Amino acid sequence: MSLQAVTQPGDTVAIESPAYYNLLEVLNALHLRVLELPTHPQEGVSLAALESALQQNQISACVLVANFNNPLGSCMSAEKKHQIANLFSTYDIPLIEDDIYGDLNFEGTRPKAIKAFDTQGLVLYCASVSKILSPGLRIGWCVPGRYQMKVEP
Ligand SMILES: Cc1ncc(COP(=O)(O)O)c(C=O)c1O
Repeated sequence: MSLQAVTQPGDTVAIESPAYYNLLEVLNALHLRVLELPTHPQEGVSLAALESALQQNQISACVLVANFNNPLGSCMSAEKKHQIANLFSTYDIPLIEDDIYGDLNFEGTRPKAIKAFDTQGLVLYCASVSKILSPGLRIGWCVPGRYQMKVEP
């Protein structure tokens, strides 16, 4: 729903590489093109590659899994999340944040989402109980910021 709210068929969406396989299937079903962003197994997406994609006006949206990424397991620092939120504000492009694994930390405090640093409503925050309670419940939610009306059915 978030992807549909912020893209048209034929648009390009930046994603981490490698990425969760079903995300590729959804992008394919929506006839979206993909720009792969190199991603570090501990620190997450390459900021330089992301900024270059935003700068060159190559993408209509971006999907990131900042906390306990699947498949890499990377978890971005709060500072990096802040920088990413600022980058999207600078270029005024929507970011879909998939925070489905954010509650799975075993020690310390729960890592913040990029959404925590979003001052412009550009982050469509998505999460679910499928990794902490049960996938069978099929309950998820989205906090779409300025795209609320477009996400609502
Ligand atoms: C990164 C990521 N996003 C979304 C999902 C989808 O989760 P759900 O079981 O709620 O459909 C998964 C499931 O593995 C996932 O790894």
